[in-house]
Amino acid sequence: MTGTSLSPDRPGSVPTVVHVRCTGRSYPVLIGHDILDGLAALLKEHAPAARYALIADENVANLYASDVTQALQASGLLVTRHTFSAGEPSKNRDEWARLSDELTDAGVGRDGVVIALGGGVTGDLAGFVAATFMRGIGVVQVPTSLVAMVDASVGGKTGVDTPAGKNLVGAFHPPQFVAIDPGVARTLPRRQRAEGLVEAVKHGAIVDRDYLDQIEGLLPEALDGDAEAIRTVVTGSVMIKARIVSEDENEAGLRQVLNFGHTIGHGLEAASDFELSHGVAVGLGMILEARLGERLGVTKSGTESRLTNVLRRLGVPLELPDRLDKDRILRFISRDKKARDGVPRYVLLEQIGATFHSIDWAQQVSESDVRAVLF
Ligand SMILES: NC(=O)c1ccc[n+]([C@@H]2O[C@H](COP(=O)([O-])OP(=O)(O)OC[C@H]3O[C@@H](n4cnc5c(N)ncnc54)[C@H](O)[C@@H]3O)[C@@H](O)[C@H]2O)c1
Ligand SMILES: [Zn+2]
Repeated sequence: MTGTSLSPDRPGSVPTVVHVRCTGRSYPVLIGHDILDGLAALLKEHAPAARYALIADENVANLYASDVTQALQASGLLVTRHTFSAGEPSKNRDEWARLSDELTDAGVGRDGVVIALGGGVTGDLAGFVAATFMRGIGVVQVPTSLVAMVDASVGGKTGVDTPAGKNLVGAFHPPQFVAIDPGVARTLPRRQRAEGLVEAVKHGAIVDRDYLDQIEGLLPEALDGDAEAIRTVVTGSVMIKARIVSEDENEAGLRQVLNFGHTIGHGLEAASDFELSHGVAVGLGMILEARLGERLGVTKSGTESRLTNVLRRLGVPLELPDRLDKDRILRFISRDKKARDGVPRYVLLEQIGATFHSIDWAQQVSESDVRAVLF
């Protein structure tokens, strides 16, 4: 597998290691039960620093930060703890500035390292603090939500939202390493686990039919928070995401396939004033983009129904809510960040496990065709 390698996993003992290539180096993603117990040793080996700044939102801080901080301190590491209110509204420039100032006050210098302990919001926000602090210090991603485990912690994208939109200010700042303990997903609300699993379904849909088959049967257990089922899903998804971002770090080409379901998905999220969660919107987005591909004759027929059947197991909505105004959805889609010359672009499947590629990985589609699948 290009850009990644996998060492054999003996559950509970040796973690699975997936390597991600980025400019000039590579970093390991380590996945294993109770891996947080060995975090101090991993830090000493992969991210030695004079001081560590552990950044977490208040929920995750209450659940995990004390134990983690104490264990690191007991191993002789200097660690300070920095928290913020949980939730997307905190992923902003004010919190970035406040946390950066806290790091200065705590005496973190250029030889410091940030530990991002939490979901995707923490990974993006703390990662962006690290990307900019003293022109960039190291960051270690310790994802605790399923979204962050299967998606956000791998690939080096960091950033914050602005009033004009999500993730509009940011930087590529790959971590020193990523440490994933699938067991911490048990404390997540079920709804949050479903969000992560939608992205895992996407990974199978775009590049790996066997993976989709493999995880389909595991989805109910993973939804329940079973650590072994979560470990299997996270390992499969990390391998896929690692391979893709190793080939195309800056989203010039192949990495765009990760946006399958997201052109319509983002439009739905925005048109619902973010009442629809990202995972729910992307689930619907995948169904509708598969329908779009089938309509255009690009996607093998039956693909939409295969995706619908898998997503049904997650209990996410399979049909567009009537209350959403379709013209409003189209307006938001046309403002998509991936649009070129104001024309939105779509990643279309050829079939489950393969995306369609012509000149590019994302295709321009006429608004009338998009209308036809929405209305
Ligand atoms: N950088 C990337 O490549 C990338 C990819 C996907 C998503 N994202 C970003 O990630 C964010 C969404 O991530 P998210 O869904 O993890 O959001 P989040 O970080 O807000 O976490 C969701 C909620 O779960 C809580 N939580 C996290 N771990 C927990 C645990 N183990 N037990 C109990 N509660 C826990 C958090 O406190 C929060 O309330 C968005 O901002 C999105 O833009 C980034
Ligand atoms: Zn997504």
